[in-house]
Amino acid sequence: MPDEVGAASVTATTEAYYDSDEADSFYAEIWGGEDIHIGIYRSPDEDVAAASARTVETVAGHVDFLAREHRVLDVGAGYGGAGRFLATKFGCQVDCLNLSEVQNERNRLLTAQAGLADRVHVVHANFESIPGPSACYDAVWSQDAILHSGARERVLSEVARVLKPGGHFVFTDPMQTDDCPPDVLQPVLDRIHLDSLASPGFYRKNLVGLDFEEVAFQELAHQLRNHYARVRQLLEERRGEMIGRCGVDYVTRLLEGLGHWVNGADRGHLTWGIFHFRKHG
Ligand SMILES: C[S@@+](CC[C@H](N)C(=O)[O-])C[C@H]1O[C@@H](n2cnc3c(N)ncnc32)[C@H](O)[C@@H]1O
Repeated sequence: MPDEVGAASVTATTEAYYDSDEADSFYAEIWGGEDIHIGIYRSPDEDVAAASARTVETVAGHVDFLAREHRVLDVGAGYGGAGRFLATKFGCQVDCLNLSEVQNERNRLLTAQAGLADRVHVVHANFESIPGPSACYDAVWSQDAILHSGARERVLSEVARVLKPGGHFVFTDPMQTDDCPPDVLQPVLDRIHLDSLASPGFYRKNLVGLDFEEVAFQELAHQLRNHYARVRQLLEERRGEMIGRCGVDYVTRLLEGLGHWVNGADRGHLTWGIFHFRKHG
């Protein structure tokens, strides 16, 4: 069982981080303010927003049964780009659950501007304790969010609880590789204020234990490398402007942190990909 105090402190640190003006500026300006996850790049110098949108389309290909009568929960929804995409493409209802109210406010605004307020609902909550009844969603979706938890087993059991029997769980997460040596990722972990990353083996073991079957794992570790290198390059190019917005310390730490992700990927210690699990009916 994860340590309650430790998990609560990780949540508080994450909330303060994503609510800060610096993080909001960085994610809005450099990552595009719509999607903030790893992109799928056709070439290493492709636009971050285009590559990030391709990730949403690719993950959505795993849940293309969705239709108007279905309900989806996005855990760790950020600015809600995926929720708006799913509601537009399939007409389904999407609940965007997210810890950062700064991001939630932008999500509500963008959703209203897109005329989707009747289909996309924004919920301020912690995915370690999902509000609402059991067995009410047809699919749970998550992109690059579960890494932030200090209690990942609890997130997975909450996902299992709220999914209907036969429901689908699709997610991406930056992970350490199953054979990653201990301690080599400390610089990466320090930047995101965590003790550990999950691994593909962690998700398989825990989800099978929660009565899920694995439908697919599309492993795309090289895209994690492409993404952090591209974001780092853009930040370098706009360094002066971003120092004006976020301060020199923030930008310096960020460039260093992004470099650690690139190094971890180059050494084969980090991976990323699209998992698709189905809860037994
Ligand atoms: C890298 S962002 C990804 C956002 C979004 N999924 C996307 O792809 O654009 C990680 C997100 O996880 C959210 N998050 C982190 N810890 C959370 C928690 N305990 N409960 C709910 N959301 C959380 C953050 O607020 C942030 O929006």
